[in-house]
Amino acid sequence: MEAKEAKVEVGTAVAEKNFIDVTDRRTGKSYAIPLIVGKDKAAIDAMELRQIKVSGDDFGLVLYDPAFKNTASTKSTITYIDGDQGILRYRGYPIEELAEKSNFLEVAWLILRGELPTKEQLQQFTDDVTHHTFVHENVRTFLDGFRYDAHAMGMMISTVAALSTFYYEEAKNIESPETRWHQIIRLVAKMPTLAAWCYRHHRGLPYVYPDNSLPYTKNFVNMLWKIGEDYKPSPVLARALDILFILHVDHEQNCSTSTMRVVGSSHADPYVSLAAAMAALFGPLHGGANEMVLRMLREIGDVKNIPGFIERVKRREALLMGFGHRVYKSYDPRAKIIKHTAYEVFEVTGRNPLLDIALELERIALEDDFFVSRKLYPNVDFYSGIIYQAMGFPVEMFPVLFAIPRTVGWLAQWEELLRDSEQKIARPRQLWMGEDERAYVPMKTRG
Ligand code: ACO
Repeated sequence: MEAKEAKVEVGTAVAEKNFIDVTDRRTGKSYAIPLIVGKDKAAIDAMELRQIKVSGDDFGLVLYDPAFKNTASTKSTITYIDGDQGILRYRGYPIEELAEKSNFLEVAWLILRGELPTKEQLQQFTDDVTHHTFVHENVRTFLDGFRYDAHAMGMMISTVAALSTFYYEEAKNIESPETRWHQIIRLVAKMPTLAAWCYRHHRGLPYVYPDNSLPYTKNFVNMLWKIGEDYKPSPVLARALDILFILHVDHEQNCSTSTMRVVGSSHADPYVSLAAAMAALFGPLHGGANEMVLRMLREIGDVKNIPGFIERVKRREALLMGFGHRVYKSYDPRAKIIKHTAYEVFEVTGRNPLLDIALELERIALEDDFFVSRKLYPNVDFYSGIIYQAMGFPVEMFPVLFAIPRTVGWLAQWEELLRDSEQKIARPRQLWMGEDERAYVPMKTRG
């Protein structure tokens, strides 16, 4: 294959030198494979491999990559992670600055629209979201149909999927940017209402309707915990939740985001696509790790038991939950911010005794060569469960609290997918390892 002449243009074209030469030892043929150059890494277009064949009727090479460990499924401009340096940026803005200076809806606009909003844009967006917080009364009715002890996340997933039946005609019109935006506003607005109602159902408490005089997170806190007329949401807890929401908005092509994109690629409507993404998040390997951290801290029980626990981890009898990450090989920047927020929350709620165990565990682990040499640092889940528990949430609510802000990320990724002319319905290949064709065996002659 001859080298194509092209200008260097990050992400879209190939430079003259940006080729790799591949020699197929089966045939002795060489191929110049062009690179697609992103700002952080280069890739080859997997379809280029199809020309590498042993004969004319050969299918050509495919990539074998279970769990997509080394496959870029998209070009994206939403979230940037440098796992070695511990960097996380939304649309170029460092997460630390956004957590300190922004509020959740401002970050939601940034993620969804690509730029920080002007004052007027933020006002309009806040108004639009605020005026879509109510849900159809029938949602109440079917929430009542769940068992008294139904898991909050199972209820949430089902309820978000059910919204598709309320807005079906509109929602399936995914070609229209205006209609898509309308569904995005609805979903961002209704998630806290649904989450709070799932929590109240779980607790056997009456549902509290949205109070649209309150800002987004305070409104959520109010729907969760309001009992009497005098209830006033704590500004410290509302701000802490707002920060936690900002930290969880997006995390590029993780398991649930990839699910959103795969389901969305079939042009399913955003409600059922989002429900599928939430189902992926529900798994203990993804959104369920902070619950495991709490169980581990409870099991350790006392600071004096930590050295013994660390020895068990080193003997491979236990995992240090909340440590380690597929992408981050240094301190997860979100964990640092959460740790700081924890102290502010405890000023209001009282100190969670599990914090002392967590702090000592972290101190010892970060000095121990087993963890240092493997680059195992606290991840986002190490401290988030402790805060949620101090705020009064049962562990069943942890994945729900993750899903509310991540809705923004899932929808931004869905929007990016639908605007990307290179995307098609997701459909991987397989390597066939089964039987060749064989004759059907009648029942009476089967061994
Ligand atoms: N405790 C003890 N040892 C660990 C831990 C841990 N938490 N994490 C990794 N290791 C060890 C592995 O045993 C392995 O050791 P070895 O090289 O001697 O065999 C080495 O560190 C590398 O680990 P991998 O398993 O290769 O790392 P991977 O990227 O596949 O896994 C994961 C990442 C799943 C997050 C892992 O670190 C883990 O299980 N952590 C605990 C669970 C957790 O906190 N998950 C939340 C992640 S954040 C999120 O999803 C929102």
